[in-house]
Amino acid sequence: MDDARLFRTAADALAGEGWCVLGGLLTPAQTRALADECVALQAAQRLAPARVGAAHTATALRGDRTQWFDPAAASGPQRAFLARIDALRRTLNRELMLGLVESEAHYAVYAPGARYARHLDRLRDSDARVLSAVFYLNEGWREADGGALRLYLGDGTQRDILPRAGTLALFLSARFEHEVLPATRERLSIACWLRQRSPDRTM
Ligand code: OGA
Ligand code: MN
Repeated sequence: MDDARLFRTAADALAGEGWCVLGGLLTPAQTRALADECVALQAAQRLAPARVGAAHTATALRGDRTQWFDPAAASGPQRAFLARIDALRRTLNRELMLGLVESEAHYAVYAPGARYARHLDRLRDSDARVLSAVFYLNEGWREADGGALRLYLGDGTQRDILPRAGTLALFLSARFEHEVLPATRERLSIACWLRQRSPDRTM
């Protein structure tokens, strides 16, 4: 699917159900380069335990380690990812008038058994996050490995999305509670948020 069609498909789904799963955001080689970089950062102990909420308190609710992308010093693989997210952002602004002005992204590594309890990405003191985008980096992931992103849909049902390399999960941040289920192997991803202008700049 070409870019324009891929992103229009996303726009239609977001305008409808409010969430979707897309393949084809990046090539397998680009995805692998991100996975390799994430593994190298992890090995070099450059990832830090994630914090929750505006107070940035450490919590047992969340077991991942993260490193934020620095847009001013992004690596080649990160620039490729950010360029695609920016193209998506512009399409969504054009098609849905979402007023998305920027993105923020971090690598996340969940050790085996780590989880992220059910939560909403929109923080209590800021409405800046409009769209959550999670891109997965795990080659050869099987259902038995666990580690699904569980999305709680408005109708009381839930949907599990496996963190397979190349899969992009998109959902409206204010609308869907979700959780990360524990996995039997290390689980790598990029969590990204598309943001609207907001008087409160707290992340
Ligand atoms: C998050 C999150 C989901 C995932 O970082 O807020 O919900 O599948 N991540 O990694
Ligand atoms: Mn989340």
